[in-house]
Amino acid sequence: MTEAKRLAAEKAIDYVEDGMIVGVGTGSTVAYFIDALARMRDRIAGAVSSSDQSTQRLRAHGIEVMELNATGSLALYVDGADECDPHKRLIKGGGAALTREKIIAEASKRFVCIVDPAKRVDVLGKFPLPVEVIPMARSLVAREIVAMTGGQPVWRDGVVTDNGNWILDVHGLSIVDPLGLERDLSQVPGVVCVGLFARRPADVVIVGGEPPLVL
Ligand code: 5RP
Repeated sequence: MTEAKRLAAEKAIDYVEDGMIVGVGTGSTVAYFIDALARMRDRIAGAVSSSDQSTQRLRAHGIEVMELNATGSLALYVDGADECDPHKRLIKGGGAALTREKIIAEASKRFVCIVDPAKRVDVLGKFPLPVEVIPMARSLVAREIVAMTGGQPVWRDGVVTDNGNWILDVHGLSIVDPLGLERDLSQVPGVVCVGLFARRPADVVIVGGEPPLVL
């Protein structure tokens, strides 16, 4: 799948235009995108990063990292996903960067999602759904999730997000109403972000292959 990730990432370069400030996601697929972006670093104005991990890689390539508060809305956001359904709705957060990823996706006019073929599913939920929570609310939120969904939340022990929070991964879901679940779980006190991207799905999905598939 490594080669498929690289091919998807390379194809996403087609969407980068001269002078752009590019929103950049997180993960192994995005790492290939950052490496490809570095080849045209003199033609872009900079990047807005969704994680400390991506910030480090961008800076190592000499790409300026800017604050979203300073840039305003972006023309383009490129990010990976853990699952993608036929409506371009996603599960994200395998890399624990879901909150900043969702913020940048919301701020961006076009969201290009880069995935390998294994990420495509008919119904979201086989990949455990990440939920970022305020630490003191971890067990409260876990109980609410069980009551609301019947899924099994598992604390991603030892992981602290860039925002200082914790992650619950919800196993055993078959998400037939992603929009409703995203809305309902987001309202539980203590939930910072739900790794469902249904309210703001991707606009374009690139599935890595020879040639890449653009959906
Ligand atoms: C990070 C994410 C990533 O986009 C997702 O986990 C996919 O990662 P990879 O490209 O390594 O398969 O949502 O929070």
